[in-house]
Amino acid sequence: MTSHHPAAVIILAAGQGTRMKSSIPKVLQRIGGRSLVGHAMYAARQVGPQHLAVVVRHEREQVAAHVTEIDPGAIVADQDEVPGTGRACECGLAALPPELTGTVLVTMGDVPLLSGETLRELTRVHEERGSAVTLLSAVVEDAGTYGRVVRDADGELAEIMEFKDARRRREEGDPDYAHVVDIREFNSGIYAFDVEVLRRALDQVGRANEQGEKYLTDVIKIARQEGRPVVAHPLADLMQTEGVNDKVQLAALGKELNRRIVEQHMRDGVIVVDPDTTWIDADVSIGQDTVIRPGTQLLGATTIGAEVTIGPDSTVSDCEVGDRARVVRTQAEHAQIGADTTVGPFSYLRPGTVLMERGKIGGFVETKNAEIGPGAKVPHLTYCGDATIGEGANIGAGTIFANYDGVTKHHTTVGRHSFVGSDSVLVAPVDIADGAYVAAGSTIEGRVEPGQIAVARARQRNIDGWVARRRAGTPTAAAAEQASGATDPGTGIPEGSSDDTTAQED
Ligand code: UD1
Ligand code: CA
Repeated sequence: MTSHHPAAVIILAAGQGTRMKSSIPKVLQRIGGRSLVGHAMYAARQVGPQHLAVVVRHEREQVAAHVTEIDPGAIVADQDEVPGTGRACECGLAALPPELTGTVLVTMGDVPLLSGETLRELTRVHEERGSAVTLLSAVVEDAGTYGRVVRDADGELAEIMEFKDARRRREEGDPDYAHVVDIREFNSGIYAFDVEVLRRALDQVGRANEQGEKYLTDVIKIARQEGRPVVAHPLADLMQTEGVNDKVQLAALGKELNRRIVEQHMRDGVIVVDPDTTWIDADVSIGQDTVIRPGTQLLGATTIGAEVTIGPDSTVSDCEVGDRARVVRTQAEHAQIGADTTVGPFSYLRPGTVLMERGKIGGFVETKNAEIGPGAKVPHLTYCGDATIGEGANIGAGTIFANYDGVTKHHTTVGRHSFVGSDSVLVAPVDIADGAYVAAGSTIEGRVEPGQIAVARARQRNIDGWVARRRAGTPTAAAAEQASGATDPGTGIPEGSSDDTTAQED
């Protein structure tokens, strides 16, 4: 089988999109982690065209900047004040080399579900038949305001008539066109053209129609007169032709896109417990036998290994997650989560978090710009920002890395196999060496050397008889009196209490 690569793809994206009611240009609205025009460009790239041109006009600067940012090889073509898809196409051609021959595909910047596979099929059908034009059509109950596919007595494509023009002809009582409004086959607006035919035909297209626009669809009738086939190729998968014009359609196509993405991952070996509450962006990759539990969103450029468990109720954006990690009820952004780690529940991993293999970030922990070494643990109720934590270190419950002095952020280092007691504050910049301890409840401001324990807290002072004197007649005083038999008269401290300085372990 030969592969068919078109000479160019032209994406029309100059239209206004008023119904969107948004300060964001229509083609920059996002579903599945990409802009609408981003989806169109991605599909176009799948057919390997020599050139990719995007025609812009409305909100030109924003759209052009976005197009070049996501695909620096794409050509931005400006449409002038002449309105219509035909003019847009002409402006696209003007930005391409004039000597270009072969097939040019035309698609639209607001049709996000069109796949690269469909464009490949369109190119193949077009080139194998040696057609001048091949357009993708679809059949529905009511073709609404779409352009109607008008076929001749032999069933061949004769012309495309825009809905408004068909309606006017019917109102005028034109017997040849009375039926056109009722035609159920419509033009999707996605085409393959022989570029030379397209150029010649566009030269002849005028603006004598209901909308005063230069219609690309008028090319069909003209091309047909040259004698080579013009073909309407029906596409069964309707959703691929659907455009986005308002926010209701944006949500509907976003949901359908997600359904398709999730289904593809399941076919590729991912276990999705509840596809209906799982949202996965287009650019996410996931390894085999990974389990996605309900209420999970995997966003942006996230990469997930094999046999991972994510969820329930987790949002992971632009993260790398290693094999066999477990991420439960977590919000993570721009973080790296190593193999065989555990994260959550109720953890917040902010940008720059690097949890190395076998490490742990436990419940109610927030991390930011923090490297947590292999097998190291930050198990409970901790803020860990701007830190480097060595292999096998343990950070006790409720530890705060005080990284901000109100002006600048500072760094904290905790060495290999070091141990920070619960409820400590590490006031950055500070350095705790390898193999060191920090006593629970300490506020650490100076370096702790290897093998040392730093104790930085007020000493305990017990005052005998205080409850009896100051809280006489209370249940506490009664309990104290009852218990006083068990008190060691020497120290006033109940037996079994120790001077343990350390954190709790899990
Ligand atoms: C067009 C087709 C119609 C088809 C429909 C499918 C024409 C005349 N009609 O309808 O047969 O059923 O698409 O959706 O082509 N655009 C520009 N510049 C312009 C006008 C439009 O770039 O001056 C772009 C828009 O951004 C959009 C696409 O072309 O991406 C289609 O424009 P739109 O106005 O939605 O389509 P219609 O002309 O109504
Ligand atoms: Ca229009």
